[in-house]
Amino acid sequence: PRARIVLDRDFTVADVPRRLFGSFVEHMGRCVYTGIFEPGHPQADERGFRRDVLALVKELGATVIRYPGGNFVSGYNWEDGVGPVEDRPHRLDGAWHTVETNAFGLHEFVDWAREAQVEVMEAVNLGTRGVDEARALVEYANHAGGTYWSDLRRRNGAAAPFDIRLWCLGNELDGPWQIGHKTAHEYGRLAQETAKAMRLVDPDIELVAVGSSNRQMPTFGTWEHTVLTHAYEEVDYISMHAYYQEDGGDAASFLAEAVDMDAFIDGVVSTIDAVKAAGKHRKQVDISFDEWNVWYQRGLDTEDQPHIVSASKEWRAHPRLIEDTYNVTDAVVVGTFLHSLLRHGDRVRIANQAQLVNVIAPIRSEEGGPAWRQSIFWPFARMSQLAQGRVLRLAIESDQTPTAKFGDVDVVDAAATWDESTGRVALFVANRSLESETEVSLELRGLGASNVVSAEVLTVPEGGDRRSANTEHDQDCVGLEPLRGVGLDEGVLRATLPALSWSVIVLD
Ligand code: AHR
Repeated sequence: PRARIVLDRDFTVADVPRRLFGSFVEHMGRCVYTGIFEPGHPQADERGFRRDVLALVKELGATVIRYPGGNFVSGYNWEDGVGPVEDRPHRLDGAWHTVETNAFGLHEFVDWAREAQVEVMEAVNLGTRGVDEARALVEYANHAGGTYWSDLRRRNGAAAPFDIRLWCLGNELDGPWQIGHKTAHEYGRLAQETAKAMRLVDPDIELVAVGSSNRQMPTFGTWEHTVLTHAYEEVDYISMHAYYQEDGGDAASFLAEAVDMDAFIDGVVSTIDAVKAAGKHRKQVDISFDEWNVWYQRGLDTEDQPHIVSASKEWRAHPRLIEDTYNVTDAVVVGTFLHSLLRHGDRVRIANQAQLVNVIAPIRSEEGGPAWRQSIFWPFARMSQLAQGRVLRLAIESDQTPTAKFGDVDVVDAAATWDESTGRVALFVANRSLESETEVSLELRGLGASNVVSAEVLTVPEGGDRRSANTEHDQDCVGLEPLRGVGLDEGVLRATLPALSWSVIVLD
């Protein structure tokens, strides 16, 4: 197969939203406990933060991290996680059938985020709680001092405000599984009033309203419309969540799921803009795609991949939950999801891969043991590092490949950025063909690039197959290697992409 791509300096989408490279830390399974935080681990610092995990988080290049949930936040009292650790209550977390010790809370997360050099995106509980607890939390976090909540923060050891800009107004409240599930009207009014009260404490915060938990929700579309009809003026973003997996061994359809992601985003953009038009609003609401990833919720066909770790009936602290092991195919699909997010960078301004460590995560760690990169680490890390400047609008003509779920789709999926200050163009490109190499030609117009700076590819490793994965005992089985034979001549780049691969090529 072949594909032809054209890039032109005059056709751009948006500035690269750096917050697209966000991640998510939930009090779920082993994301916090034995993930980022494990006092007593040989690599832990004096606060219990695992240095080995921190180093991988920095290498991953996550820019903003959503916390503390997730389904967890809908039953969480944030006050349980502040103050002397020995006084903090142990609680039952109904969302994940877990005992929450509260040994880690807001102060620890803010300290950890500073160490990791990431922005904090804090979610408030709009499941069991409401306006009052949310505004108290903003006062606790962001007010300088001299009031009840801000002085409590100071007494708890943080003289300076946390200065948290980005806030989520609850989590997945459209879902019947959610503690405190609501109708769109109930949630829309609550989001509107909570947003108003939070902004009265700190007018400079940015607020994310809850959108649909996935595109298959029966309320998808009407939920966004109703919620925004109430809260359009009070919020800045509406959220999207989506998880994908390979079903029934149908890798071709799985590799094309970015087609679904594109359509899902376009649908939410249309709904936002319909509410904007009908309400005669001037401001622009954008999208926070604050949970996305591959997640084997329905299991995998093969027995060799321990994708599902199920919950126990017992109440335990930080049990193993959904510690999916990601393979080559998953990594290529994750690359295409990042392309989709970037292509929509004018409207998707925030995105958070769910989650950061152990729980459906690019980073894995073992209690008392090592930490390592999963296959999906690589496209995220490279795109966070190299997607700089402006997102370029891609003109693409690609041969097609058949899928059961989406019909014929482009065999090549791509995204590109251009940084005028360095003159660098970055092309991110996947070959969805399971059997064939694909020839790509890239015409560069007005971009002044004449040199290949780097070219790397993630594909099936020698001696492996499309389900090869990194594990504790084989941590570097899947990774990036040089992409050979890339040539740039008179403004046209030519490359041969291996079957089932994700590549990144940088030019200047
Ligand atoms: O990321 C795992 C869970 O998926 C989150 O807690 C929830 O918001 C979503 O359903």
